Amino acid sequence: MNHFELQGGELACEGVPLSRIAEEVGTPVYVYSSATLERHYTVLRDALVDAGLGDPLIAFAVKANSNVAVLATLAKLGAGADVVSEGEVRRALAAGVPPQRIVFSGVGKTEAEVEFALQTGVAEINVESEPELHLVNRVAQRLGVRAAVAIRVNPDVEAGGHAKISTGKAENKFGVSLSEAERLYANASNMAGVRPVGVACHIGSQITDMAPYEAAFGKMRKLVERLRGEGLSVERLDLGGGLGVPYFNQPTPPSPADYAATIAASMAGLKDIQFAFEPGRMIAANAGVLVARVLHVNARPEGRRFLVLDAAMNDLLRPAMYDAYHDIRPVRPRDGEPLAYDVVGPICETGDTFTRDRMLPPLQAGDLVAFMSAGAYGAAMSSEYNSRLLTPEVLVRGSKFAVVRPRPTYDDMLARERPAPWL
Ligand code: LLP
Repeated sequence: MNHFELQGGELACEGVPLSRIAEEVGTPVYVYSSATLERHYTVLRDALVDAGLGDPLIAFAVKANSNVAVLATLAKLGAGADVVSEGEVRRALAAGVPPQRIVFSGVGKTEAEVEFALQTGVAEINVESEPELHLVNRVAQRLGVRAAVAIRVNPDVEAGGHAKISTGKAENKFGVSLSEAERLYANASNMAGVRPVGVACHIGSQITDMAPYEAAFGKMRKLVERLRGEGLSVERLDLGGGLGVPYFNQPTPPSPADYAATIAASMAGLKDIQFAFEPGRMIAANAGVLVARVLHVNARPEGRRFLVLDAAMNDLLRPAMYDAYHDIRPVRPRDGEPLAYDVVGPICETGDTFTRDRMLPPLQAGDLVAFMSAGAYGAAMSSEYNSRLLTPEVLVRGSKFAVVRPRPTYDDMLARERPAPWL
């Protein structure tokens, strides 16, 4: 469920008409619903708890939406953070996520990042390779601490979905094989600077079928049992994120209850373990929209009708990068027969096309449209390509809204650069 509904003939976020935000903040603008974020987190947590999975750590994947106000909204409910860089650790801390709920993942952590994470006291570093295990061991010993690590396993399953966001096949760069995980875990238990606390996996994103999860979870469970059989202690099992969301017109993903039931069935009888999850998209995607204004409609006499918006691929990269489908809704739908539009941005490349031949109610210059399901991997992946200013972000709660990342000024943009001394 989300909180973007038509109210009095126009699209609103909770109690705030999107047109009001567009007037006051300008466009393009990202708008997030606190109620939707909270609902998604709570539904997932309740489903996991009701399925008998104890007191899980739900570490929101900061990469999906790294706005500090969004993170703080989730942190207030008890969410942790799954982070992949020092910047994300700092964002999580700034949002009030306690270090003992931060999990540090990623295939290429630098020595400085590992040092920062250990000084911060993060709950766990998910180690993705043997060289990284040695790095963490070395840095921890230098700092005189023992780092809690989980070994990230690549369970070699095909999660479906777009190849660019599949992460759990042997050919992908993530994690180590099951047999390597066993070897590394045993090695780690003899290292002075690390303490292996668990194993982790994450098989992909926008997963809409439980079968790959079942396959991966079965393998992870057996791994835990094998490790325990060797006398090694395993306290935590991190099952990653990846649960898909219902993008309009796309395959429907399993519900959180089905997801939780599958996990409970795979893990039945496994004792003394804390489960951890790293959901990103399922919490944030449908909690946000990107609102843009129609600059003009370029209806070519030969046929194609281009809807040229003030938002572009730098603001929402997913269609250009993954051919992703985002529902597009007029903020104030007009009466009239739907027409086929090619929806494009102003950037100077053909890839700056959000969709082609999309049937939409008639639109005119000045109208507002909303890209739905844009709360995950939207603003987080935006850039200043074509020297366009970063899109502002707004957080709504009930009938109030706050600008939680203002639009920078051109002076801000230029102030970051300086001439070389010889110029
Ligand atoms: N944990 C790890 C280690 C991950 O690599 C990811 C996402 C997540 C958790 C969160 O996955 P989620 O629950 O959001 O599916 N930019 C792409 C998605 C890339 C996902 C990469 N890893 C997109 O816009 O579709």
